[in-house]
Amino acid sequence: TDITKIRNFSIIAHIDHGKSTLADRLIQRTGGLADREMSEQVLDNMDIEKERGITIKAQTVRLEWKGHVLNLMDTPGHVDFAYEVSRSLAACEGALLVVDAAQGVEAQTLANVYQSIEHDHEIIPVINKIDLPSAEPEKVRAEIEDVIGLDASNAVLASAKSGIGIDEILDAIVARIPSPRGDPNAPLKAMLVDSWYDPYLGVVILVRVIDGSIRKGQQVKFMQTGTTHLVDRVGAFRPKIEQLPDLGPGEIGFITAQIKEVAQARVGDTLTDAKKPAAEPLPGFKEVQPVVFCGLFPVDAADFEKLRESISKLRLNDASFSFEMETSAALGFGFRCGFLGLLHLEIIQERLMREYDLDLITTAPSVVYKMKLTKSAGEAEGKEIELHNPADMPDPNRIEEIQEPWIQAVIYMPDEYLGPILKLCQDRRGIQKNLTYVGGRAQLTYELPLNEVVFDFYDRLKSISRGYASFDYEQIGYRAGDLVKMGILVNNEPVDALSMIVHRSTAESRGRGMCERLKDLIPRHLFKIPIQAAIGGKVIARETIAAMRKDVTAKCYGGDASRKRKLLDKQKEGKKRMREYGSVQIPQEAFIAALRMG
Ligand code: GTP
Repeated sequence: TDITKIRNFSIIAHIDHGKSTLADRLIQRTGGLADREMSEQVLDNMDIEKERGITIKAQTVRLEWKGHVLNLMDTPGHVDFAYEVSRSLAACEGALLVVDAAQGVEAQTLANVYQSIEHDHEIIPVINKIDLPSAEPEKVRAEIEDVIGLDASNAVLASAKSGIGIDEILDAIVARIPSPRGDPNAPLKAMLVDSWYDPYLGVVILVRVIDGSIRKGQQVKFMQTGTTHLVDRVGAFRPKIEQLPDLGPGEIGFITAQIKEVAQARVGDTLTDAKKPAAEPLPGFKEVQPVVFCGLFPVDAADFEKLRESISKLRLNDASFSFEMETSAALGFGFRCGFLGLLHLEIIQERLMREYDLDLITTAPSVVYKMKLTKSAGEAEGKEIELHNPADMPDPNRIEEIQEPWIQAVIYMPDEYLGPILKLCQDRRGIQKNLTYVGGRAQLTYELPLNEVVFDFYDRLKSISRGYASFDYEQIGYRAGDLVKMGILVNNEPVDALSMIVHRSTAESRGRGMCERLKDLIPRHLFKIPIQAAIGGKVIARETIAAMRKDVTAKCYGGDASRKRKLLDKQKEGKKRMREYGSVQIPQEAFIAALRMG
């Protein structure tokens, strides 16, 4: 393809402003799919993605419009996948900014717009849903100028639903987004934008060619991993797969190269010609590493092998997630798994339960701590270890120093939520770095220990701001902290799956909160159950669950047999999801729910 005829772009939109509808419309208008194939939204193709409205895997569609090739790059919309997003953006020269004509600019869109601006993108504002009676396009146009600071005088007025403005959008992409630049005669340099496992094709790699070209039969070298592979397919999604002879500079498309695991195809890697390699890889490669770890255990010990198989299968398609076997005194055999963040954890957990029909217990998520141990006899220096599991915490006397990972977070929000958000950050041991205002919205920069963010910070932020705050973060290294292991005892038995590492200053309040929540989460038994939080041998909080008096079925007055059976079935169902600790049954939900901070 003639490079001057290529346009690469992404779509920025707040949830529900119409990104998927518009993408489908663009595909339809440019002839990618027949009408009857448009019934399902094409871009979000995974169930979980659809339900949560989150795009996990970036998908790209090649459109043809008036002699031009338009590559629409879909980007994942969550902080856990920030690096993937940054690579997708780096593969584009422009973006459509879709704003709902009735809702106006939402704070969350700002963070994405700024990211796009940082990549020097040409941004085309699209005011969508102008068919709505409540649409106020002129007000929204002014808002885009005042709040975001973009020239909106030539924003396109559109309705993705009724098909208004679609041609204008396509024309604007051609006219306003610059074509990519690249040298067709230089050695191949292509960025690996994304990779996933396809049951028919094997590992599929999405690339953006910078210089040179990539073709079938070529030996390509992955410059970061150092491996070489033979390209056996080159093509594009329109959105159906279409094979092409090659991809030249500026083009976006896919290749397959008989790669077995996605772990071999790292996002951000540079592909070059093995025989005539580029001098240097592309800048910006980052090895993504799991930052949150937790244990996954089958509720029924007999499911262990099934869990192993299912986890291995998921891992085929997700290189950012890691696992190794783990044994727990209370939970038996399971796996210690690493994730990019909490959402990533929840997605994997949900897929295991849903697609593989497994009942799982998830232990408290934890970050990776670094510790320096005291010297033992004969050692020149104390050993340094990494701790992935609070249950493995060494004896405190042997620890010289513990370090925890810190992040720098940038939060955007309408000013009215600033107070409660400052308090939230402060409560989580945050250090305020900066506060600025951009047209009625505050931009807050905080340094925070990742440990305090990992659990429910994002959920809290969303609920405090009624969904208006956006949150973005990057890791900024390790810092020493006064951290201790807090254990939980249920009926005087330690439950290792509930133990966690906390900062000493917050230990007592966290311990109290845990005990209170466990009191509500664990059902009554025939005997009284003490619940305690302890550091070392010292109890710092305690609650007691009173003994149960009556049988559940007693309420039914003996009469209604079917009702009684239902109740017993329900109880049985409940049992299946419980785990026994000594003589106490703990529902599986309790392991995660207990950690939610009030
Ligand atoms: P997420 O996938 O949740 O991020 O949302 P999205 O931004 O992709 O929005 P989506 O395309 O799913 O549209 C959200 C809702 O708005 C759907 O109910 C659409 O039918 C509706 N919608 C999209 N475009 C228009 C439009 O131009 N006019 C009207 N009236 N409704 C629209």
